[in-house]
Amino acid sequence: MSGELSGATALVTGATAGIGRAVALRLGTLGAEVVVHGRDARRGADVVREVSVAGDGATARFVAADLAEADDVRRLAAEAGDVDILVNNAGVYRFADTAGTSSEMFDVHMAINARAPLLLVGRLAPGMAARGHGAIVNLSTIAAGAPARNAGAYGASKAALELLTRVWADEFGGRGVRVNAVRSGPVRTPGTSEMGEEALRTVSRATVLDRPAVPEEIAEAVLFLVSSRASYITGAILEARGGQLALG
Ligand SMILES: NC(=O)c1ccc[n+]([C@@H]2O[C@H](COP(=O)([O-])OP(=O)(O)OC[C@H]3O[C@@H](n4cnc5c(N)ncnc54)[C@H](OP(=O)(O)O)[C@@H]3O)[C@@H](O)[C@H]2O)c1
Repeated sequence: MSGELSGATALVTGATAGIGRAVALRLGTLGAEVVVHGRDARRGADVVREVSVAGDGATARFVAADLAEADDVRRLAAEAGDVDILVNNAGVYRFADTAGTSSEMFDVHMAINARAPLLLVGRLAPGMAARGHGAIVNLSTIAAGAPARNAGAYGASKAALELLTRVWADEFGGRGVRVNAVRSGPVRTPGTSEMGEEALRTVSRATVLDRPAVPEEIAEAVLFLVSSRASYITGAILEARGGQLALG
């Protein structure tokens, strides 16, 4: 097949739902071989099937791993093999004030949102660098750049990921690997639907566009950053947040 990304292999973490699923489908449409990661094997199989029909001749396979477990993250990297594109999308977001944030809750945010991407980049980016090309995109949030109520642990874990994005851009950029992040605003996904419609509407009122995104809108930002159209962009935090309201 002759898609823009044909011949490329992409690992998308958390591709069994929401933004990750939308990214996997777009990558498939463009001809990439997609490694669909998640924990839920049934939804994984569904996405593999959807990717296969999304692109003419696109191929996909599912790898299950719990990103809260470092050994499982390392196994995921080994099973993914050589990849040209890595999208660190899987993430958790739970909300509590500071007194209500347990050490377990803090640790799980750091483990899944920051440590897992670190371990994956540590295992996959050297291969990209040795082959002289690669693109990595990390999914972040507006809560990484400004205080968001009850989102201290979540925002801190994604702020760590944004800083790591710039570290990795520096570390691997000289050998052809670009590393960027998408700082997303509210998106209607299975994860946010658990928060309830009213909570999503409240967060969305803080956007200029006055609505949540659909996953495909964030996937477009990710696809731009992995594409050759972004060939001079690395270490960037691209905001896809529906705009920031003015003060006053
Ligand atoms: N939705 C938003 O409003 C929003 C806004 C800003 C940033 N983001 C970021 O965008 C990313 C995707 O968000 P989303 O709303 O699309 O997520 P979602 O609907 O909650 O889906 C989460 C995905 O991550 C996977 N996942 C969660 N915990 C995991 C774990 N321990 N091990 C392995 N996989 C795990 C899930 O896989 P299984 O279900 O198969 O386990 C699923 O595929 C996250 O990093 C999030 O922080 C989202």
